[in-house]
Parts: sequence; structure tokens; C-alpha cells
Amino acid sequence: MNTTSWPWLPLPHGGELTHFDLVAPDTPKSTDLDVECSPRVLGDLEMIGLGAYSPLTGFMDQLAWKTVVEDMSLPSGELWPIPITLQLPGRSLAPKHRRVRLKSKGVHLATLEIAEVFEVDLDTEANRVYGTTSTSHPGVAALLKEGPLAVAGSLSFHVMPRGYRGTEYYKPNDTRRIFAERGWRSIVAFQTRNPVHRAHEYLHKVALEIIDGLFLNPLVGATKADDIPAGTRMAAYRALLQNYYPSSRVLLGVYPAPMRYAGPREAVLHAIARKNYGCTHFIVGRDHAGVGDFYETYASQKIFDIIDPSALGIQVLKFEHSFYCKRCEQVASRRTCPHGAEHHLHLSGTAVRRMLSDAAQLPPQFSRAEVAQILHQAYAEFGQRADEHGPTPPSVDHL
Ligand code: ADX
Repeated sequence: MNTTSWPWLPLPHGGELTHFDLVAPDTPKSTDLDVECSPRVLGDLEMIGLGAYSPLTGFMDQLAWKTVVEDMSLPSGELWPIPITLQLPGRSLAPKHRRVRLKSKGVHLATLEIAEVFEVDLDTEANRVYGTTSTSHPGVAALLKEGPLAVAGSLSFHVMPRGYRGTEYYKPNDTRRIFAERGWRSIVAFQTRNPVHRAHEYLHKVALEIIDGLFLNPLVGATKADDIPAGTRMAAYRALLQNYYPSSRVLLGVYPAPMRYAGPREAVLHAIARKNYGCTHFIVGRDHAGVGDFYETYASQKIFDIIDPSALGIQVLKFEHSFYCKRCEQVASRRTCPHGAEHHLHLSGTAVRRMLSDAAQLPPQFSRAEVAQILHQAYAEFGQRADEHGPTPPSVDHL
């Protein structure tokens, strides 16, 4: 199978999928450094291994870090918005170290032959990529936690990392074949990290009116601690698909990358990776990949206005903020609804959280009953654990 088998699907970024085959590891040497990967690094490693970050064939070196941060491009010229580096928090490399053995829970996943050791300029990356150095930004906090020491070099995989164990798991090679087998000529991808709600469903269905297939691609890599866990979000999707979507027009499959909350720059990364999965279109709604008030509502749409569409290679479908309008009796946006805000159902994240923890019914205009039920249950189970350990409940951002 090669990626040009279906000429109507977009070529992967850089021309071909750079996925890895597994090779047996060498015997350990005294010049190896063993590193237990953070959840964030594991997600990136998985994306590299699958070819979902094509054309990356490993973690970035200093030159790539610099061109990406400063010009949003790889040294080879392709558009790329966010550094994907391997930082070694709290570590010091000795001159004797030749290789890094990347592990997860003791399992040796991959080996990096050290070609370059460099310091990431964390402040510059935070400013240029995230637009802030505030440590209350979860992506910046995660970046700082990884520390400045980074290594680059050729990578080999021995066991493919796989954070998500469910069946809804496809490599870019698989999705391309499935899209072609289903006869889809146009495929729209949907990135999400929050529990699915009626406004999401509206975006999916409006897109499906003009696009052949929908690739629902929830992010299941590392998220901030108070986001709803991937298992709960996937259960909600299964319930929704069973009851409200035409199964022949939808594919549900996870996106293993970590969430960076980098707003506009992350929207570009999300689009490129979905092109690698074979999608022709990508949904960007309001405050895509944003967090708190760090980005303006449509900043993640506007960034695409300064990008050459041929360098991107996937078409962005921009959606305005959608809401339920009581007078229209349907989900709508300012583009389609003439009524004032007083007619619109608006529930803040705090109100939703309160409803979930009090087991008050979420209104059906806001959340399908099947989804509300799953969220209530997750909150109830969480409440029991919280009684024992006392953490704050997960937040429901952006609902
Ligand atoms: S995100 O961090 O993955 O962007 P979320 O899962 O909430 O968060 O959003 C998924 C996608 O749906 C994003 O493109 C986002 O912009 C869009 N979106 C979420 N809620 C709305 C809404 N009410 N109106 C329009 N777009 C929305």
C-alpha cells in the first residue's frame, strides 16, 4: 500500500507517510541513558511512530526548533507550527552517553542515537508558540516542566507506543484505506478534547451535508488534569453514534497526541496531522485548542488567513460560535439566527459542572440524554473517589 493509491486523498505532509517499522533492540550498553517518558512525550512518540506527524522522522534538532518557532516551517521548507522536541526533565547527560532508551512503565519502546544535545529557549518558545509565558497556561506549564535540555538524533522503534487501548484506533495508513474503501471522496476531520455536546453535533452534521465522510478524531493524549478523561468522552461518542449518526458516513478513531492548548498554532498542527490521516477538510470552530482567555475567540481561524493554502494542503471549514436558540428551536449561529442573546441557551462551564455534580438534568437542547447520562455517571464515580482523596472535579470547558 502506498499513499498515492488514492489520488483524490491529499498527499501526506511532505509527500509521504514517515511511519516506522519495528526493529529488535540492541543489548543495553553502559553508554545508554534510560528515560521514562512523560505522558506528553509518549503521545508525541506515538504520533511520530504512526506517521501522523509526517514528515517528522524523529524529535527536532536545534535548527528545526528555531525555524519552527520563528518561521512556522521546518528547515526543509514545509509548514510546521509547533516544536516537537525530546526534553529530559531534571536530567544531565554525561559525555559517555551515546543513546537514549525511551521507556514507558519499564518497557523499552524506542532508542534515540544521540546526534545533538541542545538547550531549548523556553521563554522564546512560550512567547512565540503560546503567546504567553504565564505558568497558568497549562501548555506553557508543561513546556517549562520538561526543562531546557533536549536531545535529537535518529530514532528506532522496538514496541509501538499505544496510549489508548480501545478498538477505535487507526494509523494514517488504515484511515486512508478505510476512506477509500467507503468511497469517500471528501472527508472532514473533527478534533476534540471535550465531552461531545449539541453544538459539536451541529458542526458535524452541517459539514456532513456537503462532505462525504466524517472522521471523528478525539484527542486521547495527555490533557490537563481537570479535563474529562478520554474513556468517558469515548463512551459518550459511542452512545451518540449509535443513536444519532448514519454509521456509513462516520468513522470514530482516536488522535494520540498530547494537548498543548496552544490555540492558533495548535490548530495548524491539528490540520496537518489530519491531512496525514487522509482528510480533505478540517473543522475549526470557536476558540479551537484554546484555554481560559488566552486567545481571542476566532484567533485559531484567523491564523489560516496568513498561510498559503497549498502549503497546508487541507481545507479548513470555519464555524462561528453555535448555540441553541429557543426561538429558532434549533442549534444555530449568528449567521443563521436573527434573535437576541436573551433567546439563546447559554450555560457556563461552572453551571454545567454544578448540574453534573448535583445530578441535575442537563437540558436536552444542550446535551443528548445518552451523553448526559454518561457524564452524570462519571461525575458520580468521581465524587466517590473525591470523597476519599479530595481533588477538584473535572472541568467541562467550552460546552
Ligand atoms: S478543542 O480544544 O479540541 O478545540 P473542543 O473539544 O471543545 O475543544 O472543540 C472541538 C472543536 O469544536 C473545535 O474546533 C472548537 O472550535 C469547536 N467548537 C466547540 N464548541 C463550539 C461552539 N459552541 N460553536 C462553534 N464551535 C465550537
